[in-house]
This record gives sequence, structure tokens and C-alpha cells, in this order.
Amino acid sequence: MTFINKIIVSIVQLMPKALVRFFSARYIAGDTLQDAINITKQLNAKGIYTTIDVLGEAISNIEEALESKKACSEVLDAIKENNLMANLSIKPTQMGLGIDEDFCYKHVADLVEEAEKMNNFVRLDMEDSPYTDKTFNLYKKLKEKYNNTGVVVQSYLKRTLDDVKSLNKLGTNYRLCKGIYIEPEEIAYKNRQKVRDSFLESLRQMFKDGNYVGIATHDEYLIKGAYKMIDEMKISKDKFEFQMLLGVREDLRDKINADGYKIRIYVPFGEHWYKYSIRRLKENPNVAGHIAKNILLFR
Ligand code: FDA
Repeated sequence: MTFINKIIVSIVQLMPKALVRFFSARYIAGDTLQDAINITKQLNAKGIYTTIDVLGEAISNIEEALESKKACSEVLDAIKENNLMANLSIKPTQMGLGIDEDFCYKHVADLVEEAEKMNNFVRLDMEDSPYTDKTFNLYKKLKEKYNNTGVVVQSYLKRTLDDVKSLNKLGTNYRLCKGIYIEPEEIAYKNRQKVRDSFLESLRQMFKDGNYVGIATHDEYLIKGAYKMIDEMKISKDKFEFQMLLGVREDLRDKINADGYKIRIYVPFGEHWYKYSIRRLKENPNVAGHIAKNILLFR
């Protein structure tokens, strides 16, 4: 963490909630499902897809996991009712992965089955490294029964190319991203270029074995690299999409869309936006740099 980021993290934690809200507003659809629906409608009107995420804090009991499941189920219903070009992203720990793996499987499977009936899709987000294997196990078990689910891999993890080689055998629908958590250097690349190299190497392997990839990045270097690879390997458009976070690099988002590539925006919503913003900030102080940029932008 740079000195300046440390200072920003401290200041943001002391800021009144309303001010934090002001700066995080562009990254979060709002408190309610209706907010996520509204944003999705606006993006859909431009031909842009979304994936909707119900913000939640780490849960500590089964009842909270059931509440999260209910909220996710409501998202699926709303997507159907409003005829939205959107799917659902879930955090496995919100469904109880850290409490009881069998319980988590059962309830995630219910959601995937519900989505299947609606011809929709559920993405399992990837969290920090204590959950990597558990999340892959959950995904593999779901994949035995369902095709409308996919997982995320993080290019900063040194294990990722091996995971990709193994998951490719299942015909996996991936989201490939750099990874947002602070991980120990024994298991994760810390060098920016190594993370990028690992990203492109994994992408090549995914394409080579014919998998579908959500290329989730705002890094122009990687987007250019992906364009080049798609061209060289003659990857058809039904084998990939680009993905970005709400409120980030909208210029680039619109360019990718104008270039005729499918693009999906990650749209988080929910009452837990404050805790979520602060936790994200502590987890990854680089976000502090982005908040600082926003402050400058708003002056
Ligand atoms: P990088 O961080 O280098 O950013 C490139 C440029 O984008 C920056 O210079 C800046 O201009 C801009 N930028 C990036 N993030 C910004 C922000 N928050 N605010 C303002 N500007 C920003 N991670 C994970 O561990 N598990 C997951 O399941 C997911 N899921 C996921 C879904 C989607 C759709 C996306 C786009 C990302 C994720 N991530 C994630 C987060 C991902 O791992 C990564 O931390 C961020 O995408 C930032 O990495 P970039 O590749 O964008 O590069």
C-alpha cells in the first residue's frame, strides 16, 4: 500500500456515510433491486448486457444465507419479468460456503435450476484464496448436473493456468479477471506485468480448448491483447464477451460495444453498500487511488 493510499483509506473511513455514498455511487446501482433493473434497462438499450450482484456482507449463519438466496431468486424473477439481457452473479460465501459446503451446494443448485428453467445463467464469483478450492469443487459438482453455470479464475494466482487446464476438460464458461484480494506472494504474482502475462496465457489456453470466456478487465493492454488473440486464433463471437464493472472506464466500454463485441457490465446493488465499499477499500487499497481520482474529477 502506498503512503498516499494509506492516508486515503484512513480518511474514507472517517468520512460521513453520505460522502462515501457520493463517491461510491457510480460503482453501485443503488439500495434496491429496482435500481439494478433501471441501470440494466439503460445499458440494455445500448445493446450492453449486465450481470446483477446482490451486495452482502460475510454471513455468519444459515438464516443469513437463506436471505441471500431469496434476494438472488428475486433477481432471477425480475430479469424474467422485465425481459432483461442480464444474468446473476453470486458470491459462494454468501450462500454459506464458509459454513457448510453441502448446504451451500444445495441452495446454489436451487438457484441454478431456477435460472435453467428461465433459460438464464448463474456465475460463481471467486473470492479470496481460502475459498478457491471450495469454489471449484462447488462448480464441478454443479457442472455434473447443469450447463448454465460458470466460474471465475484470477490471473494473479500462480495456480491459475493449471486450474484452467483442468477446468477446460469440463467445457467451462469462464470469467477471467486479475483478482481483487490481497494474497500472499507465495501463491500470487505481485508484479503487474506477470499478472498480465498470466491473464493472456490463461486466455489463450481457454480459447485453444474451445471454452467460452468472459474477458473481465479495464486494462487497455489486456483488451488490445485479447483483440489480437481473437483475430489471430479466429475465435468466433459466440465464444467470448468482454466484462467490466459498473462506473469504470465507460469510454472503453462504449468502444468495445461499438467495435461490435458483446459486453456485459457487473451491476452490484443492495443495502450493504457502505460496508461493502469500506471492505473493498481495505481489501484493495488501489481502489483508494480510484476514489481519489473521483474526488479530483468532482472538484
Ligand atoms: P487495472 O486494475 O490495472 O485497471 C485498469 C484501469 O481501469 C485502471 O488504470 C483504471 O483506469 C481503471 N479501473 C480499474 N478498476 C477501477 C475502479 N474500481 N474504479 C475506477 N477505475 C478503475 N475479482 C475477483 O477477485 N473475483 C471476482 O469474481 C471478480 N469479478 C469481476 C467481475 C468483473 C465484471 C470485473 C470487470 C472485475 C471483477 N473482479 C473480480 C475484479 C478484478 O479482479 C480486478 O480487480 C479489477 O477488474 C481491476 O483490474 P483490471 O484488469 O481492470 O486492471
